[in-house]
Amino acid sequence: MATLYRKTNGQGVQVEDTRVVVVMVGLPARGKSLIAQKVVRYLRWLSIKAKAFNVGSYRRQDTPQPTADFFDTSNKDGERMRHAAAEAAVKDMLKWFKTDGGAVAILDATNSTKARRRWVRERCADNGIETLYVESKCDSEETIMANIMEVKTTSPDYEGQDPEAAALDFLNRIRNYEKVYETIDEDEKDLTYVKLIDVGKQVIINQIQDYLQSRVVYYLMNLHIRPRSIWLSRHGESEFNLSGKIGGDANISERGQLYARALPDLVASSVGDDRRLTIWTSTLKRTIQTARFLAASPKGYDKLEWKALDELDSGVCDGLTYQEIADQYPEDFKARDDDKYNYRYRGGESYRDVVIRLEPIIMELERSENIIIVTHQAVLRCIYAYYMNVPQEQSPWMEVPLHTLIKLTPRAYSTEEQRFDANIPAVSTFRSKGSTAKHQ
Ligand SMILES: *[C@@H]1O[C@H](CO)[C@@H](O)[C@H](O)[C@H]1NC(C)=O
Ligand SMILES: *[C@@H]1O[C@H](CO)[C@@H](O)[C@H](O)[C@H]1NC(C)=O
Ligand SMILES: *[C@@H]1O[C@H](CO)[C@@H](O)[C@H](O)[C@H]1NC(C)=O
Repeated sequence: MATLYRKTNGQGVQVEDTRVVVVMVGLPARGKSLIAQKVVRYLRWLSIKAKAFNVGSYRRQDTPQPTADFFDTSNKDGERMRHAAAEAAVKDMLKWFKTDGGAVAILDATNSTKARRRWVRERCADNGIETLYVESKCDSEETIMANIMEVKTTSPDYEGQDPEAAALDFLNRIRNYEKVYETIDEDEKDLTYVKLIDVGKQVIINQIQDYLQSRVVYYLMNLHIRPRSIWLSRHGESEFNLSGKIGGDANISERGQLYARALPDLVASSVGDDRRLTIWTSTLKRTIQTARFLAASPKGYDKLEWKALDELDSGVCDGLTYQEIADQYPEDFKARDDDKYNYRYRGGESYRDVVIRLEPIIMELERSENIIIVTHQAVLRCIYAYYMNVPQEQSPWMEVPLHTLIKLTPRAYSTEEQRFDANIPAVSTFRSKGSTAKHQ
């Protein structure tokens, strides 16, 4: 069975053997696929094995571009094929739990009747798997239309078709689903469910049973779809970076100061309008000093310092150069190269540890709007990996240059990235696998 977190010495993180299917419920264009994809990304970032099974993509194998009448419940052929698609998705999903040790599957489907919910629950219960229903209910025409225009007209179902005609066809498809759609109701009180009404304006929670389910529900409660961006920057070059030492609590260098002075303009040009940002830094001097002029700008940005944003703790290696680490702790140096994500510095932290302590930061980011985070290389890699879905083997090796501002804008199916270079020279603090070079 799947383990939720690898239990790490003395870390006290919970270990569980539960397996859950998150069953999406709701009419088309209610953001179900978006929610499904975000939940998967979040769980994978936490090392929980998760996968989405989209019934639509199974149906598409037989019927690539159906018109709305395919979804009419009186269309027997359509109904038979949709049922076959749901069967195939559930079958693959159960197989995935068994053979791949999956922990959380998201069943992303549309036909959401009481009978169908019972059917999914029985299939799962027979296999010792829990079900958590997530209904996205939304009656605001505006939100629905925005969703249709943004997502559906770019869906593979409508590839190469006129967007107006596609939107109209899609509206008709929704009408067909509306005829049979049954919202989760009083007489289903024995089910475990969460109902998100009008994208989180109201949330109804019923019968949540364990830690894993409550994690997912808590995450869902924090999501919003208001447009926003997140800016990420490392601190300006520090005096330690000049000498190639890691860790510590050094001041920023002269060139780091130049970056701190350049930051307000760099931020203003990448924001482009008069949105107010909130600045988050770590509690270490180099990030606070880097954000100093930005915090003092006439825009009146608020500022928060987070302990959770402090750099990865390098334990006994704090204050050493990579060469010194290679000389004094050769096995450690090699072990870190072999598995940088899991390697924990003696008396310090691993990337895995950093992700666990960043989880509240991610929750808070999901709840917030426009935030600029000035932090450290390892921490920034972890936050970036969450937004950009970077696998764990890669994230600790990503190059994040100094004196560069990264802007991330979450979109329906991906996160858009822009980089703004301040054109202020700095030493490169990037170390590739196997090297001890302090400057490259
Ligand atoms: C959709 O729901 C209707 C009403 O319960 C049912 O008759 C039909 O078989 C369902 N279709 C699928 C594909 O499950
Ligand atoms: C840059 O210096 C800071 C200390 O000021 C250190 O924590 C960080 O690890 C350094 N970056 C690299 C990759 O050497
Ligand atoms: C850091 O800067 C402060 C004030 O600018 C100074 O008092 C302090 O001595 C500096 N620390 C180091 C280690 O250079």
